[in-house]
Amino acid sequence: MKIKKDFSLKAYNTFGIDAKAKFFVEVQTVDELRQILKRDEFLPKFILGGGSNMLLTKDINGVVIHIAIKGISVVSEDNNYVTLTVMAGENWHETVLWTLTHGYGGLENMSLIPGNMGTAPIQNIGAYGTELKDCFVSCEAMERTTHKLVTFSKEDCRFGYRESFFKNEGKDQYIITSVTLKLTRKNHNLNTSYGAIEDELINNNITRPNIKEVSNAVINIRNRRLPDPKELGNSGSFFKNPVVDQNTFERFSQENPEAPFYKISDTQFKIPAGWLIEQCGFKGKRFGDAGVHKNQALVLVNYGNATGKEILNLADTIINAVEKKFQIKITPEVNLIK
Ligand code: EPU
Repeated sequence: MKIKKDFSLKAYNTFGIDAKAKFFVEVQTVDELRQILKRDEFLPKFILGGGSNMLLTKDINGVVIHIAIKGISVVSEDNNYVTLTVMAGENWHETVLWTLTHGYGGLENMSLIPGNMGTAPIQNIGAYGTELKDCFVSCEAMERTTHKLVTFSKEDCRFGYRESFFKNEGKDQYIITSVTLKLTRKNHNLNTSYGAIEDELINNNITRPNIKEVSNAVINIRNRRLPDPKELGNSGSFFKNPVVDQNTFERFSQENPEAPFYKISDTQFKIPAGWLIEQCGFKGKRFGDAGVHKNQALVLVNYGNATGKEILNLADTIINAVEKKFQIKITPEVNLIK
């Protein structure tokens, strides 16, 4: 384990923000993680996974611990299902590709989501009608103060829309070290009802898709709509889609009959934040090196040298404009490091 000093985090966060870590260390095993947690001279301790869902607005005046614990292992399998344990430092999309190569179904709709396995449960990642929780069995996490490994069942994780125990009551108390998933080996439950996937398959003349073809459809859609962080710094959806109550929804839809929405229960409605932001005129706008993506207004981008504070200012400007125009408050989905 090598401890580096005054280390730039630019290559370690997909927004490409050039914040510095006073100390930086990469851990490759669970034991290395325990060792560094035990060392009291490095405080505070900041855990970094894939760096794909955070906005660094300042330097980190402590030690950044980059989780690089690798490995995928089959725990059990029968004719129908396989159970896999994936270590926290495995890249999410590479894991999805690995499962597809082995013919395992369940993750195909979540192809190309940036980030690592260890951060996937924190916000219950999801796309195109599927969420991590749909194939999640359990995860193992190290308790930060006792350094003990604790197993969390699906119920323990209290997953919701981009929510979990780890973002709420459990915030900053655990470090996820591995995730166990149950996938299908045959009779895959394909979920192609999401409009964009259906259209993409039809356009490619695919009527009876397999899991790889669904994954390819998702990859094509995402590549068209979402910027590649290697080319343009970003953190995927910067905001959550707001969920509003019946009264708010009725008022909103009377004023905006053309607005898209998803009914999520008899009393709750989700409104796409991307639509709200576009209506406020921000789509494709650039302010210095901070901007709003031209194809998806939910995504804020760094054209090169934006600081975290500049991105944050733009986010605040957008939140205020949306609230003024629609009386609906949108909130960030990314983790703001302030
Ligand atoms: N829309 C606009 N303008 C925009 C963006 C979207 O009018 O600039 C409209 C679209 O036309 C559509 C609706 O908003 O009617 C929904 O758009 P889309 O299907 O692109 O999905 P989203 O709600 O914007 C969510 C997730 C994405 C995920 C997609 C697909 C959140 C916060 N975002 O976006 O997740 O890929 O659905 O399932 O829930 C991420 O979390 O990083 C992410 C990219």
